[in-house]
Amino acid sequence: MTEYKSAFPDLPQFSGFMRPCRLEGEAFNLEVLGQIPQEIEGTFFRVMPDPQTPPFIENDTWFNGDGNVSAFRVKDGKVSFKQRYVRTEKFIRERESQRALLGKYRNKFTDAVEFRIRSTANTNIVHFNGQLLALKEDSPPYAMDPITLETKGLYDFDGQLPSLTFTAHPKFDPKTGEMVCFGYEAKGDGTPDVCYYNVTADGKFTETVWLVAPVVAMIHDFAVTENWVIFPIIPQVCDLERMMQGGEHWQWSSTTPMYLGVIPRHGAQSTDVKWFQYKNSFPGHTANAYEDKNGILVIDLGLSEKNQFFWWPDAEGNAPEPSSIHGELVRFTIDPQSEDLNLSEPKVLQADNSEFYRIDDRFLMRPYRHCFFDMMDPKLGTDFERIAPNIGGGYPLYNSLGHFDNLTGKTEVYFPGKAHMVQEPVFIPRRNSTVEGDGYIMVLVNNYETMSSELHLLDTSDFTKLQAKILIPVRLRHGLHGSWVDGKELPLPSQAE
Ligand SMILES: [Fe+2]
Repeated sequence: MTEYKSAFPDLPQFSGFMRPCRLEGEAFNLEVLGQIPQEIEGTFFRVMPDPQTPPFIENDTWFNGDGNVSAFRVKDGKVSFKQRYVRTEKFIRERESQRALLGKYRNKFTDAVEFRIRSTANTNIVHFNGQLLALKEDSPPYAMDPITLETKGLYDFDGQLPSLTFTAHPKFDPKTGEMVCFGYEAKGDGTPDVCYYNVTADGKFTETVWLVAPVVAMIHDFAVTENWVIFPIIPQVCDLERMMQGGEHWQWSSTTPMYLGVIPRHGAQSTDVKWFQYKNSFPGHTANAYEDKNGILVIDLGLSEKNQFFWWPDAEGNAPEPSSIHGELVRFTIDPQSEDLNLSEPKVLQADNSEFYRIDDRFLMRPYRHCFFDMMDPKLGTDFERIAPNIGGGYPLYNSLGHFDNLTGKTEVYFPGKAHMVQEPVFIPRRNSTVEGDGYIMVLVNNYETMSSELHLLDTSDFTKLQAKILIPVRLRHGLHGSWVDGKELPLPSQAE
């Protein structure tokens, strides 16, 4: 039996702001500094890895904690907050045992017991066809009630899910309502199989296509156009032998190219896939993709020369120093008919260190203009010396938000304060406006001075200025992804419910 730990290890990923929160609950009528426009009505869902119990493997990555889902409901200029853990198999069994049972990140050979599903449900939270889905790319989704945040259970789309895994980054077609998705390592750990599928707005599976990747490596995010699907492969490679010996699922490979796999979105066969390649580099999250007038695919995404997941080093144990990692927003263009599979140099759209790109989702898969993202620019005035003892570690830091305009090439920057870092933003369209990018940005902000969290609300017509600050009475550990669900799609109960 593995050793029981009664306290979290004294490591950066469990220290300062990164100390697990382990809190469920709710708070109503949060303090607001400034004005929340009355027209904003909806829910901002986000999820964070938040281990409910200390791991028995000390140097556990911050990615491995239990998914804890926060819901911020905005109505009539007021905000309420609710937070619940996803009741995964891991969560339930560890709560019953009052100790950690799951071992290393995505390594079942290190577990204290055998799990049917190892999901931590901690990476993304989306609303689809009446279900709130908590996602982790190694497993099927867990469904939750979008109002109560009670977990309904593992979700296999009424038995239709063809793969063992489901991406944490499904894409929603704003015109058809379809959810375009995939699973990788789709036949189990160490398998090169990728399964692409499409789910109609009412939940029916179509377009199931099995592919074989050129390498067993991470495919975290992807991109979709009206007629094509693009799979970026991160050179973090899996080796089953290493896993069986208790090693990491992932290892950085500096000899593996960065691949962009391309298949037709409709009517594809397994043999239709083309694995375009570029020099060894780390593809981050995608901003958007579309087809130009000549049928050329345009994909905008983050790209870094260095390993962004520095907590998974190469075979010799080498990893970049976190502050030396620079990811920037780049544009690859791909002729899907080309027989030459070598990609041309991408165009750098925005050269600042950035990640977590979000757009006006009504323009996903089509030509678009506005991109919003997290940025790190030390010149903005963050007081690193003062906040250093409170930051903790193990995760990338971004101290500002950027708004890049593809038409003008200009970038606007919002700086939340000298003792603050930002999490991923979401875009909220202005009511009754169909103009791309016309609306608001909501972002969860870590305040290292108060050691509590805040929501900052910006109006995109005056991006650099704070519109309203919502104070959250607790600290929410650094999280991953989330989404804005409009009140028309998910009507809100009264603030007192
Ligand atoms: Fe992600």
